[in-house]
Order: sequence, then structure tokens, then C-alpha cells
Amino acid sequence: MIEFSRRLNALPGYPLAEIPTLKRRLIEAGVDVIDLGAGDNDAPPPAVAIEAMTAALRDPAYSKYGFQQGLPAFRQAAARWVERRFGLRFDPMTETLPLIGSKEGLSHLPFAVVNPGDATIVPEPGYQAYLGGSILAGADPYIAPLRPENNFLLDLEQVPEAVLRRAKLVFINYPNNPTAAVAPLEYLERTVAICRRRGILLAYDNAYCDLTFDGYRAPSIFEISGAREVALEFFSLSKSFSMTGWRIGFVVGRPELVGALTRVKSYTDTGPFLAVQKAGVAVLDQAEALVAPIRAELERRRDAAVAALREAGFALAAPKAAMYLWVALPPGTASAAFATRALEQTGVVVLPGSAFGPAGEGFFRIALTVGADRLRAAAGRLGQALEATRRGELASAT
Ligand SMILES: Cc1ncc(COP(=O)(O)O)c(C=O)c1O
Repeated sequence: MIEFSRRLNALPGYPLAEIPTLKRRLIEAGVDVIDLGAGDNDAPPPAVAIEAMTAALRDPAYSKYGFQQGLPAFRQAAARWVERRFGLRFDPMTETLPLIGSKEGLSHLPFAVVNPGDATIVPEPGYQAYLGGSILAGADPYIAPLRPENNFLLDLEQVPEAVLRRAKLVFINYPNNPTAAVAPLEYLERTVAICRRRGILLAYDNAYCDLTFDGYRAPSIFEISGAREVALEFFSLSKSFSMTGWRIGFVVGRPELVGALTRVKSYTDTGPFLAVQKAGVAVLDQAEALVAPIRAELERRRDAAVAALREAGFALAAPKAAMYLWVALPPGTASAAFATRALEQTGVVVLPGSAFGPAGEGFFRIALTVGADRLRAAAGRLGQALEATRRGELASAT
């Protein structure tokens, strides 16, 4: 018999395992399912990405191993984009590293800094790769709850002293998945100051930095003075350019920190497919023009969904960024039961807050991945599910 590792067994189960089966059954039964589950936009990838990729596929040089150096042109395009976007300079060869999607870099990072028994600080609700990467590297993850009363900010001042002493790495993600919260500069300053004082590596996950609304501009962590000492910043081409399946992102930071992750990766992978990196160059060089329509469409969807959900009886604020709505449920309503009811009785897939860990309870997440009309239809159906849940609760209370 094969015995699995304690690390594998410590990975939390995926709480939504039954949803794809349920969804398939409903579609087979003729139900018009609206899937607002995964953060995977319905827009096609940019034509320039397809053209660059197609050309690269015809050139055998792009079918070789990329190794960690990858395509110097991709590193240069990434550094150029960071400079245009944030006014910050990073050396393409020593301070930039291509990633097979930012998930890959984020989940490998703990291997570079943790020893057994060291702590990582992981937001909850949050992107599961932080927790998984920490556990697989043998770290002891400390779960930092993101609470509405704290504007969903991970507050290092609330982390117990004993944990801070053992902490080697903290994951910070704004604009945030799943809460869509954004981080004020003054919060980032406090966070950087604590990381510098404690010698904690700050992994700043900026996957949604260009999906912003109402004129809001998401900052880079490196706009904070002193951040280069302790931070690495992760960027993704997935969300801004509808390229989730292409698997391309990058990290920037000072050479010693980027070098440590490079060293880990040189033992686990050989970098993103060079043809994908070539497509990445084309996209990054036209990033501003390509992201503008995606951002405008998401803003329209946000407005439509927020208005329709309010009309349907939900209380929620209109987020300034990301591609999600994080919607509160009435007190005492279990999010998993609500999500199951929403799917079974109304054909709408949402993610229950509890899927992001216990601190996500009391909310559900909607991804703005379908057009405004479908979102309005989904909101109406979710209102019915809310009503049915309330009636069910009344019935069980009497
Ligand atoms: C917060 C956050 N970070 C990183 C990622 C990973 O993106 P990528 O496709 O670049 O791996 C996601 C994807 O959903 C995310 O939500």
C-alpha cells in the first residue's frame, strides 16, 4: 500500500468537488445554467497574442527548453510594462522572472524561505495557492482572517507575537480575490514597515492590478519606500488579457529574492513555453490599449450586477477593482447550503464563502464573467434562492 505524505494529507479538501457534476446533470436536464463560479473571463484572448503565438509555433527555436532565463524579450517587455505602469525600474535579467502563471511562482515561493516549523501568514478568505504552497513546503501556515469591519485588509498588527517571530513569508493580495477589496497606501506602508522590522518576505500578489473601476488606480507595492528590501511582486497576464489557459505571468523584485525563486524553479520546471512568452511580449507592449475594453466591460457588468443584486434583496457595496462581487448573506445563512440551493433550484453557479476557508463564511462570490443581461438574470434567480432560504429557515425555526 502506498502511504501518502503528511503534507499531502494536510491539504484541505476542495469543498466544491460536487459542483461540476451537479452542473453537468442540470445542463443535461435542459436547465439554462449561468456559471459565475471561476474567475475566467468570457472575452477571447487578444488577436496579437494569437498572431505572435502562431508565428512562434512555426519557428523551431521557440519549441526548445526556455529554462529560467526564458525569452529575454519577454523579460524586457515585462520590465518596460512595469516602468510605464508604475514608473518603477527593474532590471530585465536580474530583477524579473517569467512564471508559468503567477500561481506557479506564488506556490513555489515558500520553498525558498521556510524551514520546517517556520510560519507563513496566509489571508482567509484568499487564493488557495498561498495555503497549498505553504503546506507543501513544510511551513506552518497562520490563517489571518480578512474581516469586513477591517475592510478585508490583512492586519499584521493583529497577528500574535509568537507567530510573527516564526514568520518568514506573508501573502498580500490587493485588489483582492475574493473580496474585491483594495489597499490604501497607508496600509501598505504599515505592512512594509512591519515586514522590514521582522525580516518577513512580503509576496505582493497584484494579479488584478489593471481591472479597476471609477478611475481607481491600483498601486505597486514598490511605490512604498523600503519595499525593495522585503517584497516580491507577482503579475499575471491571465485576467487583464483573458489568457488564463496560456499560463504566463512574472515576478519582479531585487536580485537576491528573484534569484532565490529562480533557484527553486530550476529544480521544478523549465519556465513558460517560449512561444507563449513571445505572445506575452506582444500583449505587454500593447497592454494599455488591450486592457481598456476589458476593464470597461467589467465596469458595465459590475454596475448591472450590483444594481440587480440590490433589487433582489442583497446588501453589497460596488467594488473598485477585480472581477468579483463578494456578497453578504443574511446572518446565520450557511454559504455552502445557499450555493447548493442556488445551483439546484435556480441554475446559478456561485462560490460559497466557505470554499475560501471558514473566515469566508457568511458571503458568496460572483465572478463577472458573463454579460450584463445574464448577470441581471442571475441576480433575479439568486434573489429567489435567498427568498427560499429565508422561508426554509423560518420553517425550520418554527
Ligand atoms: C489572487 C490571485 N492570484 C493569482 C492567481 C493566478 O493567476 P495565474 O493564472 O497567473 O496563475 C489568481 C487566479 O485566479 C488569483 O485569483
